[in-house]
Amino acid sequence: MTNQVAEGPGVLLSFEGIDGSGKSTQARLLADRLEAAGHETLLVREPGGTALSEHVRALLLDTSDPSLQIDPVAEVLLFSAARAQLVAERIRPALSEGQVVIADRFFDSTTVYQAAGRALSVEWVRALNVQATRGLAPVRTYFIDVSLQEAQARRGAQAGDRMETSGTAFFERVRQAYLALTQEEERICRVDGAQPVDAIHETIWADVQPFLPAVSSQPAP
Ligand code: ADP
Ligand code: TYD
Repeated sequence: MTNQVAEGPGVLLSFEGIDGSGKSTQARLLADRLEAAGHETLLVREPGGTALSEHVRALLLDTSDPSLQIDPVAEVLLFSAARAQLVAERIRPALSEGQVVIADRFFDSTTVYQAAGRALSVEWVRALNVQATRGLAPVRTYFIDVSLQEAQARRGAQAGDRMETSGTAFFERVRQAYLALTQEEERICRVDGAQPVDAIHETIWADVQPFLPAVSSQPAP
């Protein structure tokens, strides 16, 4: 089994990129413009978006407990657990109502951060991604690509979370894996993240049009 685009009235879009690339900025801009254009829109971030997933997020990203260790296999299972709950509790119901769901990260993050970044089996991680989502895939994915130096500069001086303290070699593997995945998957659209915010947004806005559901002419009750 592979991940498939959901059949139904809604559509799932995702944003990907290394930490600090600017993808949350773009996910928010797209969600706001879609809402203004009359689409019911749900913006979710990963890991997170449900009570369980936010608890798991805290475990995964927190650096306040120096005794907390997370083995790479435990890590991939925790990210997958957070995603399974988010898909079941929020994404699938929204899609069945015809909403446009925008995921600020989805399973491609697991493929690049855990398989490439942590050196786990890519076949196993992909199979796990299918199970965690019960086969759901985004119809279009925007990979906001910036250099490690640019991403680091955008993140600024604040202390990083647990993933962000994984080191330069880790993030180089992650970026290279995103570039390789973009070659493999037509679904993934690489966008030059070095451009100004508005220019990136306009590129995405033009690209996304054919993927959008029709806007209902019925006014909301
Ligand atoms: P991410 O979600 O990928 O970690 P954010 O969207 O939170 O990244 O952006 C990280 C920082 O970079 C923020 O301060 C944001 O304002 C800034 N930023 C986002 N996009 C751009 C851009 N195209 N050019 C310059 N700065 C940007
Ligand atoms: P977050 O603060 O949301 O980062 P960003 O603003 O860059 O999106 O932190 C999420 C972190 O978790 C980020 O370093 C990427 C990582 N991550 C994985 O390693 N695997 C995954 O499956 C997901 C969803 C995120």
